[in-house]
Amino acid sequence: MTDAAQILELNEDNLTRCASLLREDRLVAVPTETVYGLAGNSLSEHAAHQIFTVKGRPLIDPLISHFYDTAAAFSHVRANADARRLADAFWPGPLTLVLPKGPRIPDLVTAGLPSAAVRVPAHPAMRRLLARIDFPLAAPSANPFGYVSPTRAEHVATTLGSRLAAILDAGPCQHGIESTIVDLREQGNAKLLRPGPIDTDALEATLGQPVAGSSGPATGDRSAQTAPGMLSKHYSPNATIEIRPHGAPLASPKPDDQNPATALIFNQRPTPMPASKEPVFWLSEGGNLSEIGQNFFHLLQQCDQMGCTRLIVEAAPEGGVGTAINDRLRRAAAKPTNDPHDRQDEYH
Ligand code: TXA
Ligand code: MG
Repeated sequence: MTDAAQILELNEDNLTRCASLLREDRLVAVPTETVYGLAGNSLSEHAAHQIFTVKGRPLIDPLISHFYDTAAAFSHVRANADARRLADAFWPGPLTLVLPKGPRIPDLVTAGLPSAAVRVPAHPAMRRLLARIDFPLAAPSANPFGYVSPTRAEHVATTLGSRLAAILDAGPCQHGIESTIVDLREQGNAKLLRPGPIDTDALEATLGQPVAGSSGPATGDRSAQTAPGMLSKHYSPNATIEIRPHGAPLASPKPDDQNPATALIFNQRPTPMPASKEPVFWLSEGGNLSEIGQNFFHLLQQCDQMGCTRLIVEAAPEGGVGTAINDRLRRAAAKPTNDPHDRQDEYH
């Protein structure tokens, strides 16, 4: 079977086919409004085990479970008033809540933690799929461990294609950045674990209380973190990344003739075009923040495919989804270390 043959266009027959594959404990890559997920039955240890294996992800890094609606999600975790408030405001949507887990989600899915991450996604194709099955879907981002998240079916096909039963193609993802994750284990003490499309201001306005971990950009301070998989460090394209401040003119600091595969990546089409010999790309014609988010992971993967080995990237403006984009950019730019703990410190 070729990779291309596994990409299924979105229609009733293919949704039915994906649902039966999932019932048989097979893995299917599914579209969500954030990024594509590598999905399997969240109540099946066998399916969960395959997810970890296919992704090359260590078993200590827990998976998010995706549900059709809030009632289904909250029947698998112990929800509190904060959780109900955020669910009412933002579900279905790009928000993941970490709550004390109930008995039905296997320990393998939560990596042995007494908490579980749950989300009700908004993508219509994902919702149609969830409506066809009577179990939640465990789904990490459908990329190999440590690589950039997929925002198009082709990204999944290129990296994991041959190892999946199917890839349900619903086109490019709307946000292009993974969901916001909030730790709500303790009522009245919400903590931001991962910035995402729903920003801290919106969370705080809904909760009527400050959300810890929300002041300023992620610092990489390990002591501030509470759970595996949330700490700072790289997950990245093959190319190395250098970050330049938002609005700064981009140029290679020292023209490097030995490295012609350097590309410059701007937020918006630069005017005038820089007089550099490096190829120039931009994430959004007019610098629209949500387009920058949509295209961010896609452009990094395109640059890898074009053989770029070094990317000089303009940061997004801070605030809103810009904070989440810059968080991913910093992680993508971070250098790997030999510290074995750093393996846990990535968004996978
Ligand atoms: O947008 C998204 O969230 C995508 C789509 C597919 O839903 N999923 C995604 O999953 O980004 P993943 O596995 O790549 O990232 C989920 C993060 C991981 O860093 C994991 O460590 C963390 O959520 N996580 C999962 N369960 C947790 C828990 N019980 N406590 C703390 N962190 C948890
Ligand atoms: Mg991931």
